[in-house]
Order: sequence, then structure tokens, then C-alpha cells
Amino acid sequence: MKIAVIKQGDPSQIPQVIDQSRRQLVFAGIATAGLAGCGGGLTDSPMSLNSAAVPEPAALAAMTPAVGAWRTLPLLQNTASAGHFTATLTAAPALANFVQGVGTRIFAYNGGTPGPVIEAYEGDQVRITLNNNLGQDTTVHWHGLAIPADQDGNPMEPVAAGTSRDYVYSLPLGSAGSYWYHPHPHGSTPEQVYRGLAGAFIVRSRTDPLAMLPERKAFITDLRLDSSGQIAPNTALDLANGREGNQVLVNGAYQPVDTVAPGTTERWRVFNASNGRYTRLVLDGAPMVLVALDGSALAKPLTVSELLLAPGQRGELVVRAPPSSGQKLVLRTLTYNRGVMVPVSPAVKLFEISTSNEAVHAAVALPASLPAPLPLPNNLAMTQTLVLSDMGMGMGMMGGSATGRFTINGKVFDPARDDISMKAGVAEEWIVHNSGMMDHPLHIHGTAFQLVASSRANSASDPRLNAFMDVVNLTPGEQIRIRLRIATPGRRMFHCHILEHEAQGMMGVINVSA
Ligand code: C2O
Ligand code: CU
Ligand code: CU
Repeated sequence: MKIAVIKQGDPSQIPQVIDQSRRQLVFAGIATAGLAGCGGGLTDSPMSLNSAAVPEPAALAAMTPAVGAWRTLPLLQNTASAGHFTATLTAAPALANFVQGVGTRIFAYNGGTPGPVIEAYEGDQVRITLNNNLGQDTTVHWHGLAIPADQDGNPMEPVAAGTSRDYVYSLPLGSAGSYWYHPHPHGSTPEQVYRGLAGAFIVRSRTDPLAMLPERKAFITDLRLDSSGQIAPNTALDLANGREGNQVLVNGAYQPVDTVAPGTTERWRVFNASNGRYTRLVLDGAPMVLVALDGSALAKPLTVSELLLAPGQRGELVVRAPPSSGQKLVLRTLTYNRGVMVPVSPAVKLFEISTSNEAVHAAVALPASLPAPLPLPNNLAMTQTLVLSDMGMGMGMMGGSATGRFTINGKVFDPARDDISMKAGVAEEWIVHNSGMMDHPLHIHGTAFQLVASSRANSASDPRLNAFMDVVNLTPGEQIRIRLRIATPGRRMFHCHILEHEAQGMMGVINVSA
């Protein structure tokens, strides 16, 4: 907010514009520092904010959630017998307790955020009833699952406020992996997600080679509270950059802590359900062994020093706690410059696990190979070139409307238009080029695609190369080749998974014919 004031004793009597929001930010940062005792959770420093040459969001957090115990997410109750998964999700406003003594108004599935974890088996017949009590249109999109297009929560099929619908589909054999669900209504996906609507969806296999490992789910969301402890709306800068909050939560908790026996080997399923924040994961205390990206296993376990998860992405890691008591594992996210016009979010701690005094658990040998999808043929016709752009007519982003700035092949989303035609079950190869100034994570519905090449110099060591994913990040100037096949007919979305970009039109429709 800009206010004009007359400076006392100034003979010229020229009003001076003071940026009130910037002053509030500075104070908020200091106040938070005092409250948190420099606990490492601060995401704003007055210095970095002052150095920004652009207006800052009107309100950043003056409130910091307290560090809490590890939160195990509730499971969505299956009311059917084996072979079926039948349940109800109710989307409605609710109150959350991020900060003690403050009820933060959120949107919740079944009363909480993140929503309950859905756990079903390959081959299961799923019937999930959505009750929409939000007071606005919504849908549920089953991110990454290869299910029929008309059950996939497309923006063209809204569930009106006050109504219900059933989503009915079966989980394909071979689809075991980590997925998630979130709303996908036309235009309001970013708000519904940052207000709390998102949950994990695990598809299990009866022949999972890692089934012996205890599991930990880390569902990462990004919260921005205003000075009254309420979720702050998106600003013009959020629309341009993709919203980043300033409290990164894991399972709805702030920097949760947990304890395990020394030497415990766990499988971590990590979900980045943020609108715009990238998590560049590093682990202190043990190596990270990557076993899956998005919903698909890698061909074999791969030790990685860091793992970048763009919004919408998942990674599965196998981690062995240190084999002695009193040691720590700390998962953190490093800074990542994705071309934003605001200060890059600082590195933050995500969670911490300490080893107890219990007996040491022996190391667990991992299988040499994992059930990765079969590679797609390498003699495919090159059928599409997609060009992602963030430099359309809204360029000069301070001006308010960004309509037309975020495009794919020069076009903004039109729900009535088919952008791409494919034949069900027929594999193709596409070139995707990011001609913009920012990173953009491309997501395609209803399938996982194989990344077969990238123009990035370091691609040979990139764990994504030849892996199957449903979101792939493209850095500015990067060109990639992907192979994909969509099994069933219908209209499918493809879009940037920075949700603010998606909502402004960086999305298209693939019409898959029978
Ligand atoms: Cu996770 Cu079209 O979305
Ligand atoms: Cu999706
Ligand atoms: Cu984007």
C-alpha cells in the first residue's frame, strides 16, 4: 500500500511516497526473528526484501507455527471389501491450528490439510464420492493416475457448489506408486490448493520389492500467513512468479521431529504439493537413495546428493538412519533460482529425525533392479513441438493483468479448443522447449512420459534421464524430448504445474481418439 505523507519541516511540501507494505515486511521479519529465537525457520530477511526493486506482497507471515511432533497423516477410510476402494471426500471450509491460539481459515478435505491419504491396490475398483461444500465450483484431479479422462477432474467438468459426484475408475496394473489429488477447477485451482486442498494417493502393488521397509510420507505444502494468522491471498507478484509462502510445512506441521531406532531403513515418499515453490532436497546424516520419481520406479536404486522436486512432483527415497544413538537425519531444501523477479526463497529445514537408544537395526539390502515401466520404442515419429513462454503481452508484469503472458505455443488455455490430437495407445515423441525466462514444470494428465533427452549439459548424470515422470521441469532455454502414450480416449490437460501459470492459461488440451 502506498500512502502519501507530508514530511514535517520540508519546505518544498512535496508529498513523499512511503511504501507501507515494505515497512510492515521489515517489521514482520524482525518480530518473527524475536519469536522464533532464530530457530532456522525464518524465510524473510529484511535485507533481502529491501533489495527487491519491486513491490512486495502485502503481508508476509508475522506468525510462525511452532515446531511440533511428527504428524502421521490420517488414512481415508475404505468402506468396501478387498478389490474395491469406496470412500467419501468432503471439501469444505475448516479451521486449522498452524499457530497456537489462532484458528486459520482453510479449505479442507474431510476437515484437515493435507487431506487424508488414499491407499489402494493396483487393480482396485475405486469409487470416491466428492461432496462439494466449499461454496464454489471444484473438481478432484487424480494427479498422475492413468484413469479415464471423464473421471479425472478436468476443469471442463466442474462439480458445482453444494453438489456431489462420484469419481469411478480402476487402478491400472503396473501403476503402483506415489500420486496425489487436488482440485482442478477453471481459474481457481491455485487458491483452492494454497488454502489446503491436496492429499497423497498411494497405489500399492502385491509384489512390491520394497514392501519390507517401513514408510514415511512427507507431504510438503507452502503456507503464507498474514499478521492475523490467516492465509494471505495471491498478489500480482505471486501470479507472475508462482506463489511461494514462507512456512514450508510437512504433513501440515512445521519442521516436525521424530525418533527412530538407530540403523532403521525407511522408504520416504516425498510430495511437493506447493503452488510455486521448488524443493531442492538434501539430507544431512545419511545418503539418499532414489528409487522412484513421480508415480514410477527407477530402473535401479540410485544414490543422489540432492533431488529437485518442482511443484507437483514426487520422489521416493530409501534412507538408513545412522547406526548409533543420538544422531540426526535432517531433510532440508536448498535455495533454487528459478528465474523469479523476487528474492529467491532461503534454504529451510523440512524435518528432523533422531536416533534413539534402542538396539541398532541391521542394514537392509535393496534389490538390484526395480519394477520400472518398460522403455518406449526409440523409432517413434516426432509429432509435437511445444514451446513454453512467459514473455507474452503481459510482459512488464508490474502492470496488473498478466493475461497472455504465460502461453504454450503462443496460446492461452481455451477449454473448447483441442491443442493436440493423439490416438489412444499409440506412442509418440515430442520436443518441448522453454523459451521463457523462468523455469516451468510441464505436467501431462493421464500418463507418465519418458524423458529421453535434455539439452542441459549435466543431463548424463541426471536421474530423470530415461525415467518416467508426469511432471518435468524445464529451465530457461532448455529443450527436451519425451516419449509418451495415453492408454484411453478422451480430453486430457497438459500444463505448467506452477498453478498460478496454469490458471493464467499455460495449459492446453490433448484430444485422444479411440
Ligand atoms: Cu496436478 Cu493438472 O495437475
Ligand atoms: Cu495432473
Ligand atoms: Cu510456469
